[in-house]
Amino acid sequence: MAIVAARAVTLPDRTPLWIRSAQHGDEAALIQLREDLVASNPFQVSSPRDTWSMEVASQKIETATREPGHLWLVASLGPKPGDGVVGGIHFRNGERDRIAHHGTFGIGNLAAWRGRSVGTVLIESLLDWAAAHDTIEKVCLGCFATNVKARKLYRRLGFKTESRSRRFFKLGPGKYVDDIQMCIYVKPGVAPEGFGTWVRRTGCWLCP
Ligand SMILES: CC(C)(COP(=O)(O)OP(=O)(O)OC[C@H]1O[C@@H](n2cnc3c(N)ncnc32)[C@H](O)[C@@H]1OP(=O)(O)O)[C@@H](O)C(=O)NCCC(=O)NCCS
Repeated sequence: MAIVAARAVTLPDRTPLWIRSAQHGDEAALIQLREDLVASNPFQVSSPRDTWSMEVASQKIETATREPGHLWLVASLGPKPGDGVVGGIHFRNGERDRIAHHGTFGIGNLAAWRGRSVGTVLIESLLDWAAAHDTIEKVCLGCFATNVKARKLYRRLGFKTESRSRRFFKLGPGKYVDDIQMCIYVKPGVAPEGFGTWVRRTGCWLCP
C-alpha cells in the first residue's frame, strides 16, 4: 500500500518509538535487522545463506509500497527513512483474485527490543489496518512449532491455530520442525466457529 504517516508511540517502559512504513532509505537497516534475527533467533525461516542485497531490499520496499494488499511497518527510533529500525512486520495478501482476501505476515525485532511490547504494537497496527481494508478478511501467520513464546503472544491477540504442516522446516540432516499456521478474521460475520475476529480499535491511525 502507499506509505503511511509515521506515528509516535510510547512503550510501557516509557521508551519513545515510531511506527512507520518501510521506505527507500531503510534498506541497510532492514538488512541489519534480518541479519540480527538470523543470528539471534533459532525460529527464523531464513538461514545465514538467505542473504539480501541492497537491490533485493529496495525491490521488496517497492513492492510493499505499490501493492494495495501489502503493508510493511517498521518500529523505528525516528519518523524518517534511515532512522534506526528495531523491528518490523511485513504482510502480503494473495496475488490472485480468489485469494486476495487473506494474507500472511512475518515479524521480528532486534534481540534487545524483544519482550518490550514492540511486537504487540506492530501486530495491533496491522490488524487495525486489515480491519479497515476493502479486501482483507483474514490475517494469517506461520510459526515454528517450537516458538512457544511467539505462539503465546499470537494467542493473546486472538489468533487461533488452523493447521500444522509436518516437517516443514529442515534445520539440518534429519532435523525438522513443524510449522503451525494461525489466523484471525478481521471482518464481522466471516469467522467460522472456533475462530476469532479482531475489532478495530478507536482512533486507528492507519484507517481511512
Ligand atoms: C516474536 C516477537 C516478534 C514478539 O515481539 P515482542 O516485542 O518480543 O513481543 P511483546 O513484547 O509485544 O510481547 C511479549 C510477548 O511475546 C512473547 N515473546 C515471543 N518471543 C519473545 C522473545 N524472544 N523475548 C521476549 N518475549 C517474547 C512473550 O511470551 C511475551 O508474552 P507475555 O507478554 O504474555 O509474557 C519478538 O519476540 C521477536 O522478534 N522474536 C524473534 C523472532 C521471532 O520469533 N519471530 C516470530 C516468528 S513466527
